[in-house]
Amino acid sequence: MSASLVWISGASGGIGQALAKTVPWEGARVIGISRHRPGGTIDHLKADLADPSMWPVVGDSFHREMEGFDGDHVVFVHAAGTIDPTGFAAEVDSDAYLRNVLLNSAAPQVLGQLFLAAAHSLDAHRHLVMLTSGAARSVYPGWASYGASKGALDQWVRNVGAEQDERGGVQVLAVAPGTVDTAMQAKLRNTPEADFPSRQKFLGLHEQGKLSDPQQVAGQIWALLDRGLDNGSVIDLRDLAPS
Ligand SMILES: NC(=O)c1ccc[n+]([C@@H]2O[C@H](COP(=O)([O-])OP(=O)(O)OC[C@H]3O[C@@H](n4cnc5c(N)ncnc54)[C@H](OP(=O)(O)O)[C@@H]3O)[C@@H](O)[C@H]2O)c1
Repeated sequence: MSASLVWISGASGGIGQALAKTVPWEGARVIGISRHRPGGTIDHLKADLADPSMWPVVGDSFHREMEGFDGDHVVFVHAAGTIDPTGFAAEVDSDAYLRNVLLNSAAPQVLGQLFLAAAHSLDAHRHLVMLTSGAARSVYPGWASYGASKGALDQWVRNVGAEQDERGGVQVLAVAPGTVDTAMQAKLRNTPEADFPSRQKFLGLHEQGKLSDPQQVAGQIWALLDRGLDNGSVIDLRDLAPS
């Protein structure tokens, strides 16, 4: 049995993929959750997380793998997310809007709850990390659902972190990674200005070479787990002093 168990949603691309490549514990069992198969040698749990019928499948994986686990680390990083459909709420496709709400708002809470329940009585270092965004606090027309989902996620993390501080002991964090050079950013640059009036800002960051490297960001996220942060912390990597 591996000494560390790590689930990463969104491990097939972007920040999730970089996290999967840089897991800090040698020999860790890494399970990537996504629709497409992740590269490398990690295990794949194929799931469309905008489909609520897949959430219990992920919960079963948490319970099955943690049953009898006597290793050192158990971690779930929820990185899966989407900016689709970017556009004004009144104008976007309603089915796509519903998928956005299910994936970005509901899935993290439900999967997070399933992880906490499965990890409740384990004697190991346990971490639940949610990828959030500066969009939780800033207003971006075209991103109503995306921003609302990240804002809700931050508040979920604050509350559940306070709960776990009192009873449970799982460290729960939300991490905003800054502006990172992934497919999500490329998609944003290709969005019509009418659907996302702030597009120029992100085009500019790209042109000026100011997007962060996913691998570097992944290293910063893993390093947070050793920093003794308060449970329920919502961290923006751009605000962090070097450790
Ligand atoms: N990049 C940035 O600048 C930035 C900034 C702030 C916050 N974030 C946050 O960081 C996280 C990762 O972003 P990223 O830039 O790495 O995104 P990305 O490059 O677009 O990758 C998204 C990942 O999520 C998975 N995913 C998307 N829809 C899914 C679904 N329905 N079911 C299961 N998995 C799904 C994708 O896998 P499949 O397609 O294989 O399913 C992929 O692995 C997101 O939560 C995002 O909101 C990113």
